[in-house]
Amino acid sequence: DDVVTRIRNIEMIELGKHRIKPWYFSPYPQELVNLPVTYICEFCLRYKKSARCLERHLQKCTLTHPPGNEIYRKNTISFFEIDGRKNKNYAQNLCLLAKLFLDHKTLYYDTDPFLFYVMTEFDSRGYHIVGYFSKEKESSEDYNVACILTLPPYQRKGYGKLLIEFSYELSKFEGKTGSPEKPLSDLGLLSYRSYWAQTICEILVGMKPGPEGERPQITIGEICEMTSIKKEDLLSTLQYLSLIQYYKGQYIICLSDEIVKQTNRAKERRRIRIDPSCLHWTPKD
Ligand code: COA
Ligand code: NA
Repeated sequence: DDVVTRIRNIEMIELGKHRIKPWYFSPYPQELVNLPVTYICEFCLRYKKSARCLERHLQKCTLTHPPGNEIYRKNTISFFEIDGRKNKNYAQNLCLLAKLFLDHKTLYYDTDPFLFYVMTEFDSRGYHIVGYFSKEKESSEDYNVACILTLPPYQRKGYGKLLIEFSYELSKFEGKTGSPEKPLSDLGLLSYRSYWAQTICEILVGMKPGPEGERPQITIGEICEMTSIKKEDLLSTLQYLSLIQYYKGQYIICLSDEIVKQTNRAKERRRIRIDPSCLHWTPKD
């Protein structure tokens, strides 16, 4: 990589009520570099070089939500689906914004092959962007997420897992398993590991013994089908948690009391979940 392209170039952004310090370089136009603050319209994501310019823009900008279709709403959480070809300006501005917090991904200038799923939180002023993920319209490798981001003011509150959960809900509707595009960032891997572990353990912990008290049985394929988690990710998670054991000629999964306790604790902490009955979406193909 060219060293110059890795140096952070935007000092600070203002996005709605948030001031956020960028983490990485993003190819915003040169005229914004070295300004103390770059102002971004929180609804259309256009960037402006001064508060005055943003004010003028806000008088014309009628959006109070991302463009595209609202495909999910439950309580204050909504998801909007944006086609990277039909809403090119928005998609490009979203990529520019996201790049401020993504180190390793190359920026896609060509947004045409992607769909963008923007998660918002609603209040009396509108639908405020919390995070998003992008997804290739057609992935030969069964990727169901390309880039994923929770904006820093919202991080570490469970929104990342909500985005991940939503991406797997879409895969379930498509009747496919999916996996995030590699390489994942450190934070991305932490979040996925946590999501996979919790999702798989909740299924295992919830299994009931048979009528005669037989050991509950489930296959790897059945867990993949129930969760849309790809087989490799499922197996690596089971190994990571040391749940798989080879016993008398077959693989068995053993749940320790500790795992059961952890699973129940994690379940209690995750208050917001995706409710599939609130998803109004049909996969396009
Ligand atoms: N340090 C340690 N653990 C962290 C962490 C951090 N900074 N950030 C998240 N985690 C863990 C959480 O503890 C949680 O696990 P737990 O529920 O078992 O405790 C899990 O990761 C998910 O946390 P959550 O709050 O749901 O995620 P988030 O809203 O913070 O979003 C990312 C996670 C990855 C989307 C967010 O960090 C991000 O946008 N990073 C920058 C962009 C990026 O790297 N994207 C992924 C690659 S494309
Ligand atoms: Na985080």
